[in-house]
Amino acid sequence: MVGPMGVTRREALAGGVALATGAWGAPSLWLPSRQAAPVVVASANGLTSKNGGTVSCVETAFNLMVSGGDVLDALVEGVAIVESDPEDTSVGYGGLPNAEGTVQLDAAVMHGTRKTAGGVACLEGVRTPAKVASAVMLSTDHHLLVGEGAQKFARQMGFQVEDDLNTERSRKAWLEWKRRSDPEHFPDPRKRGGTEVAMEMAREGWFPIEHVFGTIHANAVGPDGSIAAVTTTSGLAFKIPGRVGDSPILGAGLYADGNVGAAGSTGRGEANLFGLCSFLIVEEMRRGSSPLDAGVFALRRVAEKTEARLKRPDASLAFGLQFYVLDKSGRFAGVSTNPGSFAVCDESGPRLAALEVVR
Ligand code: GLY
Repeated sequence: MVGPMGVTRREALAGGVALATGAWGAPSLWLPSRQAAPVVVASANGLTSKNGGTVSCVETAFNLMVSGGDVLDALVEGVAIVESDPEDTSVGYGGLPNAEGTVQLDAAVMHGTRKTAGGVACLEGVRTPAKVASAVMLSTDHHLLVGEGAQKFARQMGFQVEDDLNTERSRKAWLEWKRRSDPEHFPDPRKRGGTEVAMEMAREGWFPIEHVFGTIHANAVGPDGSIAAVTTTSGLAFKIPGRVGDSPILGAGLYADGNVGAAGSTGRGEANLFGLCSFLIVEEMRRGSSPLDAGVFALRRVAEKTEARLKRPDASLAFGLQFYVLDKSGRFAGVSTNPGSFAVCDESGPRLAALEVVR
C-alpha cells in the first residue's frame, strides 16, 4: 500500500515515519518520529476476540500507537474490546463469576517509560477494569485499590457501575457448576469441587478450558520506544469471593521497564504469584537474556517451586501458565506449560504465533 508521501507502510515504518489511522491497511496521515520498531504482543484472545466487530485488541493498540497515541493508552483501548466482549468468559463483562455467582474483576496497568502504574482487584460492576486501573494510576497516589473502595473510586471517576456483569452464558455456567460441585467444598476448594468441576465443564464445552484461569495480557513497544503493559481478568472461574490472582499485582501479572522491556501472564495466578515471574523475566532481560530465554527461565523457576500435588506423575506441571515477553528492541516470545498460541501485531500485521512449551 502506498501512502500520501509515496512510500509503503513497511518503508514508512522502517524509515522514520509512522502510520496514523484506524483501520488496518488504510493509513490516511503520516507522522515523523520513529525510534523503535513498534510491536504489540498479547495472549491469543488479543486477536481472536473482536466483540462482534472487525478489529482485535492488538490491531487497535498498534494502530493507535503508530498514530501518535501513548503506548499504554493504546493498550488499554485494545483490551477494552476483550473486556466488553460477552463471548470471552475470562475477562470483564460476561467473565465467569466467583463461587457466589458474582463477577469480580482484577486489572493493572504499568507504564515502564513514565514509571507509573495502577491496579484494581475484586472490582464489581465495571466492564472495563483496566480503564479503572488507569484512572488509579493517573488520579491517585496509590498503586492498588480493592473491592468496595475500588468500586466507589470508579463511580466517583464517572464509570458506569452495573448491578451484575453476568451474561446468560456465565450465569448458566455458574448454576451448573453449583449443581455439580459439593456445596460443602468451602473453605477448601482443593478437594473435589472448585477448579476440578470447572475443568470438567470446560472439557464438555461450557467454556474454553483456558478461561478457567483466563485473562488477557498485552504489552507493547511504541514507535517512540516507550514500553507499557496491561493485564485484565475475571480471575479463576468460581473462585472463593475475595480471591485475587496474579493479574493486578505488579511484578506478577505484569511488569514493564522503559529501559529493558515488558512481560505479563495468563494462567494459574497462584503459580506466578509465588515467583513474581514478570519481574523475574524483565530482570533476566536486563542481565542480557533474550525474551525467549528469560521466559523459559521463569517457567523453569515455577517448576522448581511448585508443590507435588500440582504436578503430574512425570513431574510436569499440571496447570496452564503463559508468559508474553517483549524487549525494548521489539524482540518478543510467548512461553507456556501447554501448547497454544499468542497474538502479535507489528509492521507485518496481526497474527498468531506459537507458544514455546516448557514442561
Ligand atoms: N491469571 C489470572 C488469575 O489467576 O487470576
